[in-house]
Amino acid sequence: MKRITVLVSGGGTNLGALIAAQERGEIPGGAITRVISSSPDAYALTRAAEHGIPTDVVDRKAFLQREDFSRAILNAIDSSQPDLIILAGFMFILPKELTEKYPNRMINVHPALIPSFCGNGFYGLRVHQAALDYGVKLTGATVHFVSEVTDGGPIILQKAVEIVEGDTAEILQKRVMEQAEWIILPRAVALFCADKLEVRGNKVYIKE
Ligand code: GAR
Repeated sequence: MKRITVLVSGGGTNLGALIAAQERGEIPGGAITRVISSSPDAYALTRAAEHGIPTDVVDRKAFLQREDFSRAILNAIDSSQPDLIILAGFMFILPKELTEKYPNRMINVHPALIPSFCGNGFYGLRVHQAALDYGVKLTGATVHFVSEVTDGGPIILQKAVEIVEGDTAEILQKRVMEQAEWIILPRAVALFCADKLEVRGNKVYIKE
């Protein structure tokens, strides 16, 4: 059974989708064993507690220096002894030291079709506002392994979502979550836990 640590910063709807998938038996090879939050107020912590999952808080506001926060996150991750780490709405870029320590063992969900609308500064509603401002007709979500390049690691799964006339960033965010993120994140985690993902170079191959 693979031990899964989930990093969160806010509402935690993607964490909720993972918990629901786990409880439906859709991630037979893994179990969420720890949730680490960068904020004591994150609703994701309540979701975890309701399902008996142990939590840790590494409060970003308690650290003056970014490096100290990163080190504390790394310590919390290490002590959870994970086989897999999920960034599920975790709003901070992790240092190279951390991404190098867990190569192809960290997965991120991003609310756009990478390589569009990604990289430094693209997170949360900003991503959807950028897609609307550009005028694209399709957006979506991407689940990928985390590398030292922000949003640049090997892509595991993507799903497209249509943009509709009159969309706001909030409306679009909800549609992308419902039609893409909450589906492809649990699916990618299940594939990882079943040892069905093979990374060669910057490409992911899904084994039969
Ligand atoms: C999700 O849309 C996730 O893809 C995005 O933040 C939201 C978190 O929602 N992540 C990023 O933008 C990271 N670059 P949640 O807390 O309800 O899962």
